[in-house]
Amino acid sequence: MANSNNSNNVKNILEKVICGIKFKNPIITASGTFGYGLEFIRFIDLNLLGGIAIKGISLEPVEGNPMPRIVETSSGLLNAIGLQNVGVKAFVAEKLPILKSFDTNIIVNFWGKSIDEYLKVAEILDNTDGVDMLEMNISCPNIKDGGISFSSSPLATSEIVSKVRKVVRNKPLIVKLSPNVTDIKEYLKVVEVEGADSVSLINTLIGMAIDIHNFKPVLANKTGGLSGPAIKPIALRMVYEAFSTVKIPIIGMGGIMTGNDAAEFILAGADIVQVGTANFTDPSAGINISNELKEYMESKLFNSIDDFRGKAVI
Ligand SMILES: Cc1cc2nc3c(=O)[nH]c(=O)nc-3n(C[C@H](O)[C@H](O)[C@H](O)COP(=O)(O)O)c2cc1C
Repeated sequence: MANSNNSNNVKNILEKVICGIKFKNPIITASGTFGYGLEFIRFIDLNLLGGIAIKGISLEPVEGNPMPRIVETSSGLLNAIGLQNVGVKAFVAEKLPILKSFDTNIIVNFWGKSIDEYLKVAEILDNTDGVDMLEMNISCPNIKDGGISFSSSPLATSEIVSKVRKVVRNKPLIVKLSPNVTDIKEYLKVVEVEGADSVSLINTLIGMAIDIHNFKPVLANKTGGLSGPAIKPIALRMVYEAFSTVKIPIIGMGGIMTGNDAAEFILAGADIVQVGTANFTDPSAGINISNELKEYMESKLFNSIDDFRGKAVI
């Protein structure tokens, strides 16, 4: 008994394993809100994060949409960055070697303008050392080709997930879903059936802002993706639905700003969570949220994430 108490004292209650990958805590910084991670090295200790989801990577470099492409709204952020990135070659050659030196999981978010592009990027990343997991984004609302068109029907989702699954043989494949659908459960089932190892949700909700003085949409792209606290209730509802729909691990996100927000997602069924917009107000948000989550767990005498995961689902 004494021994088991001792080992409990040193146990890291935040540790969570999904798809065979160990996370020291269940907090990942969300794709597109934390650059390539490297930009944050001078502000925070990256080793304290459970993982980093890299900005969406494509086959070729992408410049993104014209400015303005980000605007603050009440309780949220609208963005239409347009998936700007350096391309997979430069990411692997220039960013990954530095990232690899940190003791945190590297989740590479990727996308393509066609199925062929998705397959090519996925294959490269699947065969690259230092990439721990792949997160396939089929849900970006801010580009004309690719992205959301692959998550606009269960059939299109099924086709792309099954094809990408065949080329991703070495690493866990996460599929990131769009909330801009009528019934998320249909998409969740398809993703699981087609062999995804995990599902992440939610991406941003399509919205807009209008400048009342020049009578035009604020964003050059006209519409953008809404993120932040404004979307948390929707994200939570979708994670709650996911818990009863699929058996694969669930990565929840949408408006998480505090440890208590993260606890809500885990109570709704998330195995681990991602933190996005919060990074814009505080680069240490992920670390603070991890510490706050630990305090919450200690206050409830939870010894592991599984002690309370899905507890609110009845
Ligand atoms: C500026 C910005 C850029 C984003 N870029 C990406 C991206 O490249 N790939 C992706 O899958 N999601 C992207 N997202 C969506 C976030 O990863 C996340 O799903 C969403 O913002 C909800 O989480 P949050 O409310 O904590 O920000 C982006 C979000 C923001 C705000």
